[in-house]
Amino acid sequence: MVKIFVDDLELDVTPGENLLGACLNAGLDLPYFCWHPVMGSIGSCRQCAVVQYQNEEDTRGRIVMGCMTPVAEGARFSLAAPSARTFRAAIIESLMLNHPHDCPVCAEGGECHLQDMTVMVGHRDRRYRGRKNTYRNQYLGPLIHHEMNRCITCYRCVRYYCDYAGGSDLSAQACHDHIYFGRHRDGVLESEFAGNLVEVCPTGVFTDKSLLRHYTRKWDLQSAPSICPGCAVGCNTIPGERYGQLRRVHNRYNHEVNGYFLCDRGRFGSGYINSDRRLDFAGWRNADGTFAAIRQSQAVETAATWLKSARVAAIGSPRASLEANFLLRELVGAENFAAGFSSVEQPVVDRIAQILQATAALSPPLKQMEGADAILILGEDVTNTAPRTALALRQAVRNKAYELADQAGLLHWQDAAVRNLAQDQRSPMIIASPADTRLDDVASELISLPPDGIAGFGRAVAASLAGKPADDARAQRVAGVLKAAKNPLVISGSGLLHSGIVDSAAAVAEALVANGGKAMLGYCLAEANSLGLALLGGKSLDALLDRVEGVDALLVLENDLTRRLSASQMEKLFQGAHSQKTFSQNPHSQKTRVIALDLVETEMLEHCDLVLPAASYAESEGTLVSSEGRAQRYYPVLEPGEERLPSWRWLLQIAVASGHQPLSQMAHFDQVVAACAQSNGLFAGLTAVAPLSDYRSHGLKVPRQSHRYSGRTAMCADVSVHEPQQPADTETPLAYTMEGMNQDQPSALKPFFWSPGWNSNQSVQKFQQEVDGPLRGEAAGVRLFEPRPSSAALAPALSGETMGELQSQLQSQLQPHKWRLVPLYCIYGSEELSAITDEIAELAGRPFIAVGEVVARRLGVVAGDGLRVSAAGQTISLEVKILRRVAKNCVGFSAGYRQTLDLQPGELVGLERDDAWQRGSPRMIASDRGGLRDSDRDSFKDNGHD
Ligand code: FES
Repeated sequence: MVKIFVDDLELDVTPGENLLGACLNAGLDLPYFCWHPVMGSIGSCRQCAVVQYQNEEDTRGRIVMGCMTPVAEGARFSLAAPSARTFRAAIIESLMLNHPHDCPVCAEGGECHLQDMTVMVGHRDRRYRGRKNTYRNQYLGPLIHHEMNRCITCYRCVRYYCDYAGGSDLSAQACHDHIYFGRHRDGVLESEFAGNLVEVCPTGVFTDKSLLRHYTRKWDLQSAPSICPGCAVGCNTIPGERYGQLRRVHNRYNHEVNGYFLCDRGRFGSGYINSDRRLDFAGWRNADGTFAAIRQSQAVETAATWLKSARVAAIGSPRASLEANFLLRELVGAENFAAGFSSVEQPVVDRIAQILQATAALSPPLKQMEGADAILILGEDVTNTAPRTALALRQAVRNKAYELADQAGLLHWQDAAVRNLAQDQRSPMIIASPADTRLDDVASELISLPPDGIAGFGRAVAASLAGKPADDARAQRVAGVLKAAKNPLVISGSGLLHSGIVDSAAAVAEALVANGGKAMLGYCLAEANSLGLALLGGKSLDALLDRVEGVDALLVLENDLTRRLSASQMEKLFQGAHSQKTFSQNPHSQKTRVIALDLVETEMLEHCDLVLPAASYAESEGTLVSSEGRAQRYYPVLEPGEERLPSWRWLLQIAVASGHQPLSQMAHFDQVVAACAQSNGLFAGLTAVAPLSDYRSHGLKVPRQSHRYSGRTAMCADVSVHEPQQPADTETPLAYTMEGMNQDQPSALKPFFWSPGWNSNQSVQKFQQEVDGPLRGEAAGVRLFEPRPSSAALAPALSGETMGELQSQLQSQLQPHKWRLVPLYCIYGSEELSAITDEIAELAGRPFIAVGEVVARRLGVVAGDGLRVSAAGQTISLEVKILRRVAKNCVGFSAGYRQTLDLQPGELVGLERDDAWQRGSPRMIASDRGGLRDSDRDSFKDNGHD
């Protein structure tokens, strides 16, 4: 540490940090705009001006920018010097010359960093009386609203969008006092992380379009700490509610996981919660086959009666909480519980769960992934399967730049200098995949292989690392790159539904550890609780199908089985269920009963006898286990409407009504958590994931509403002018009120960030241990496993055929005029619930079949044409998408779209131009940006793509 002097304070600061960071760490308020903790400094806004003195005798000093000034022993500064104050006030006055001063109608909704900084410097009166520059705003897609007149030219948007997130379609245009931040022409922002502009922009240029439609100020939102349900990364979020509806989702800082940023599926994909497809009331099927709404109590009684039968079964869900799945398993018994994965997905997810518990490699949080200096990705298009992970990997390839900066004596936060020095030099990232990925533009090497080939390639890398003679030169080269790295990272996942790829990734990581090095091993999983469910265990759906005819009652938890089972399997499941002998306690008919518990109307509900409406993640509490193995808790931000209940509560009420022991002894969520924690040594830490309901801060619960929350009475004035009683929350440490402290509670309980004078999300630094450090209070979530000496459970993963050994097998798979289907995922459209959100559905577009340029030419199609895809027993027409690289004899299809659910990964299909195809209207996206830089295309020509 070094000592510096700031006005009359002596501060111990870290050598090399910048003065702005040091001041913020010391709790001093120094205004800033362009600086961002993870984007560093460029000194463009001139707002953080301070006076620096040469020595004790120097009384005049000189103005310097705090964000550009490294601290050094004995350095002397003043924030309060009149010249610094005047300078900062003049700067903000000049920034505000063209600002419309439209705060009362601005969609920034009161969380405006510009407003905070303006107040901080004391700029109050507008002296400028001239004409203001005005701009034409652009259409940027269904997610982001553009209002350029509010811009103060801090450049944060393009620095984030292009430099940090890798986007290329937003830029600073024109010059002087006419700088324009926008796209070359109107169109949807291409980046999957564009939504972060809403939080990065210090004023209201980029705002949340869906929030704008139901304008609400930040302090009028009721908020709660939550976890994103969009994929398995486990990003921490803050959903906001007003008038009984979810209004928006903001980032909740978690140092280890998502830091300051979310992906757009996570930020904008919760619209389904307000959708008219939500189930409001329980319903049962009448004797004549029609559905009728029934009361909660009647539904519970009916379900309990049916489930009292000796022959029951249940199907869990990777999108439901650990507690709900646990209760379901206990209710019917482990031998009658199926996890609810599809039969192709379950072995892959189980394998990942097994490997993560047995490997000596670290399953890293995103923060540690950012430290990787060599990355091998096997089979995943990470941006589309675990989007926020891809943003972390984009930062990891910058480690080469930091290495060069260290050699040149540059500090890492000197952003422009470091980028200038490194230019296009990046840490190595090798991607072996069957087709384009959205990280191709930062990859050092791209290898196009079919899924079996990727598994063989991974094994060849592992063999080479183990010192075995290499049968593949590329594998040997990649092994050398990983071996030379200090923090190598291997990424794989369940995307290609191929256990061999998952195993080969483990084999590479283990070989790196066996060589005496460190290794990180990260897996991408599809759903928010995929790993939690795999750790809980359960039979496969196939095993359940085998015995379904012997089952009297089947309970399905938050799972649309039509997405996981083929049409024939669905038929078997429901015909089997409906072909039973008399079920004495069912007065209506003689068939086995199917009970479904879900959030929204799904196709499967058509086949059910009793439907129970479940609360969404924003209306209930629960624990999710992320793909890293981190258990994290989410809390309700609003009470479930109508007759919805959290799934865990439905199940508990059914257990009580059916007299189930010991579940009927439980009444509260905390008891379920405790029981789940006791059920399995791995879950022992569940009670420590977040404080239980008896937690109090300063004697009070944690408030979900800010102390400026207003309009509680007015909101219901059409019903009553008396303020309604707020709901009582008996299950969590949070209250539906503004009374209480939101200050020093554990970070897992932060419902929003606000500090006096800091209304915007920049206030998060007031809650961090240090700028960009962990939040004060214990870390949010508990990691369920850590690296350990490799165990025998890994043995199957470490053996298998290498690339060379597989060559003849791969050759034999080739068939003339046939292509092998590989699933391609889309951040918008592949995930079930977010795809119900209107804006996400608009971006998802039509389901597609993706071919390489060579195949497209051969079939005589261009992008947007139709191709008839003939698989076993069926033919469907899909829109053609042309990719820059596709592995030989492979074609991709849009996975997770309703229209392509019947296509089976790995299946051989025929392709034929569909002359009757109706082209869709062209999308507003200027270019469907593939992953590969044009300049690199030739060099990848011979690397196996079609
Ligand atoms: Fe220092 Fe912008 S924050 S110049």
